[in-house]
Amino acid sequence: MESNYINDDQLDLLLNELASLYGYDFTGYARSSMKRRVNRLIIVDKFTNFEALLETIKNDSTYFRRFVEEITVNVTEMYRDPSTFKMIREKVLPAIATQPFIRIWHAGCSTGEEVYSMAIMLHEANLLHKSLIYATDLSSLAIENIKQGIFPLSQIAKDTENYLASGGKNNFSEYYTVKKDTAIFNQNLKTKIITATHNLVSDSSFNEFQLIFCRNVLIYFNKSLQDRVLTLFDESLETLGFLILGTKENIRFTKVAAKFSQPDNTQKIWRKIL
Ligand SMILES: C[S@@+](CC[C@H](N)C(=O)[O-])C[C@H]1O[C@@H](n2cnc3c(N)ncnc32)[C@H](O)[C@@H]1O
Repeated sequence: MESNYINDDQLDLLLNELASLYGYDFTGYARSSMKRRVNRLIIVDKFTNFEALLETIKNDSTYFRRFVEEITVNVTEMYRDPSTFKMIREKVLPAIATQPFIRIWHAGCSTGEEVYSMAIMLHEANLLHKSLIYATDLSSLAIENIKQGIFPLSQIAKDTENYLASGGKNNFSEYYTVKKDTAIFNQNLKTKIITATHNLVSDSSFNEFQLIFCRNVLIYFNKSLQDRVLTLFDESLETLGFLILGTKENIRFTKVAAKFSQPDNTQKIWRKIL
């Protein structure tokens, strides 16, 4: 069994230091997974104890950035949960297609696989030309990756399988060029993607959207932070706009529950009704 290097008081101390020194508030993140990840980092980065980690975070802003990258979970893939993307393709896009202009926000989108999945679907629905896709994440490294649109070739087999399962009819390889062990996605997809770092804990909305994705992010937050973020999404969505969450996430029992309907309860897609 792994040694346990961090107790509750130490976690509180760490969270206070991160907030006062760097302005990052992680107090609304689920504590057990925070502790697990800090503990893992102490082992991986070979600190002798918690105090040594804390001193390094306090004195080395480069290490602090690594800490943030490691403490958050960046796992993602294209067309993750293909049946959700199938419903977006078949039901959501036709519902917003009549809008003169389509604005989409991918909040907490990690390295952007979800964003490129959407750009391809918009292209196939002949809607990309009148869309803007805002891709945001806490991680500046992730944002850099989205700008590049370059993904490991090793992921492409799985991505292609997901694309087809989401109802994609084209040859997926039309959307990228292979260079060494990478897939470089087409320039025309990138022109409609706007990237920025954005912290869901502390930053406000920046536009009104027809569609907001925030998938597999809320699971890391406690109830009151989930309420804060969902209120932000409610304020940022047009009436009849769509909110798309991850498969383990739900708006039931949250502050905004009464304002949304769920067209199909097998999918984590809600529509703003009020
Ligand atoms: C598991 S990934 C989800 C990626 C993608 N949405 C998906 O479902 O595949 C979680 C992402 O949430 C981001 N994140 C964590 N805390 C955040 C915050 N406070 N504000 C914005 N993004 C955050 C992480 O940096 C990470 O990229």
